[in-house]
Amino acid sequence: MNNYRIPRSLVHLTHRDMRDDIMNRFEHVLLSEYSVGAHLAGEKLEHEFLKYIGHKYVTGVHSATMGMLIGLRAVGIVQGDEVITVGNSDISTTAAIHNVGAHSILCDIKIDDYTIDPDKVEALITERTTAILPVDMYGHPSDVKALRAIAEKHNLAIVQDAALALGATDHGLPIGSYADVVVFSFAPLKPMGSLGNGGMVATSSTEIHRSIYLLTGYGHAGGFEGMELGHQDHIDEGYNVPIDPFQASLVSTKLPKLSEWTQRRRAIVSMYIDKLEGPGLHVPTFRPTSEPTFRCFTICVQDRGRVLRVLRDNGVEAVLHYVPPVYRQSVYKDTVLANFELPVTDEVTNSLLCLPVSPELSDDQVLQVIQIVNDALAS
Ligand SMILES: Cc1ncc(COP(=O)(O)O)c(C=O)c1O
Repeated sequence: MNNYRIPRSLVHLTHRDMRDDIMNRFEHVLLSEYSVGAHLAGEKLEHEFLKYIGHKYVTGVHSATMGMLIGLRAVGIVQGDEVITVGNSDISTTAAIHNVGAHSILCDIKIDDYTIDPDKVEALITERTTAILPVDMYGHPSDVKALRAIAEKHNLAIVQDAALALGATDHGLPIGSYADVVVFSFAPLKPMGSLGNGGMVATSSTEIHRSIYLLTGYGHAGGFEGMELGHQDHIDEGYNVPIDPFQASLVSTKLPKLSEWTQRRRAIVSMYIDKLEGPGLHVPTFRPTSEPTFRCFTICVQDRGRVLRVLRDNGVEAVLHYVPPVYRQSVYKDTVLANFELPVTDEVTNSLLCLPVSPELSDDQVLQVIQIVNDALAS
């Protein structure tokens, strides 16, 4: 039971407001003929989702974790390859890289917006580098246009982890437009959450899409032209990870509200930026060409443990995404990941604090959070 006065998510209020629409969709999945209800829910969402992104094809998947694994395989990453990514992501990023047999090469981030520093990428490229995997941490767009230029020069693929960034734009384009493959998450606390797991993988390459589609459904060739009706032939060794129909229908119901909720997230963050103040406070800043979304608002403070304790004691569910950074986690302690030196990532992860940005929060609740932080910083 969550006893926070100001929790990090108030999505249940939205679900209550949308109850009739949601229940109708769930009923449709449950009670329609299988091929109309359950089978088509994912396809319906895929069709609708295309309006929100800058790519030609999408595939609904079980989670962003699986989406990244499949995306890496689809662009041709294999055993022994090196993939340049960041150290301040969810473990699913490095796990996806390692699960295809590749190595993670960690690049430091920018202090401004906590995303990969394109100026530090080229120094990490070797003859084994085959891809860059930028992460739009907290919903802040990585500078993928700059990475694109590097990728073109060195013949690298870009698989973008936009798990937290649906609704953001960069250079006026939907997030992910400069990547070969972009991956979104519908896990519950993401900017567009379902109730369980879900994700979407997008690309504009027919060949990559075909591979993603195959890998999502066991590698079964059915559905592609030229295949014999009813056959069971598999042309790849894939996974069984399509998006669940109930999660797909929930996301379908909510998707038309994405823009409104993104605006509200930005308005909440504007209040934080305007009014947070105190010694040792760092707030992120963004490239003028990018319009972030916000899963939370991540500030850096000195004496983070004390400020977090004050917030929690006052009923605010502030959290630490993601601390420690992956290369300092137990699972990697005896691996080469533990040897990377990433001073900016260390600085950020030693002091970051994520404040709530649920679009359902009232201005008054945001002001309360601000007051608590400012008081804690001043004391
Ligand atoms: C940056 C980032 N990438 C990927 C993921 C994995 O997403 P999913 O839970 O859909 O597998 C997460 C989950 O929190 C995340 O924060």
